[in-house]
Amino acid sequence: MRVAIYPGSFDPVTNGHLDIITRGLHLFDEVRVLIAHNNRKRGLFSVEERMDLVRASTQNARVSVDAFNGLLVEYARQIGAKVVLRGLRAVADFEYEFQMANMNRHLHSGIETIFMATGTSNFYVSSSLVREVASLGGDISQLVPKPVLTALREKYSAAPEE
Ligand code: PNS
Repeated sequence: MRVAIYPGSFDPVTNGHLDIITRGLHLFDEVRVLIAHNNRKRGLFSVEERMDLVRASTQNARVSVDAFNGLLVEYARQIGAKVVLRGLRAVADFEYEFQMANMNRHLHSGIETIFMATGTSNFYVSSSLVREVASLGGDISQLVPKPVLTALREKYSAAPEE
């Protein structure tokens, strides 16, 4: 069984993430989407909400969803996975991704990070921009799956940003 862990904040999952998941399924038997903790980010959606949104947006027996609060490499050890999958959007992503990949390999020499170039239709899409545009009433319907569009509308109509 070839399992790739696809870790991230997924706050919320976007069409860019779904593109990586779909293409990851061509290479791996299972893509495990892992909602992991990023120290640098404050969340909009709860971890449970993010997991539900990924589930509602993927619905594929070979895609599983989990959450973990500790180190990514610890999670990989626990499930016996050796591959971490990440999307690379642009040069700006590279330094951060390069650091994380090497830190993870330093912590666990059995881990390899595989990067996939984000598709051209999604290279400018990020969860943070999607949140910002949605909070200001912009059209993000082409950028996120339907369940996320609905959830963002609910979130921002319930608690409008200042
Ligand atoms: O979607 P993001 O926020 O860019 O994903 C970053 C994430 C969550 C993959 C990264 O912060 C992470 O791996 N967090 C888990 C904790 C950990 O292992 N930190 C050390 C990373 S070298």
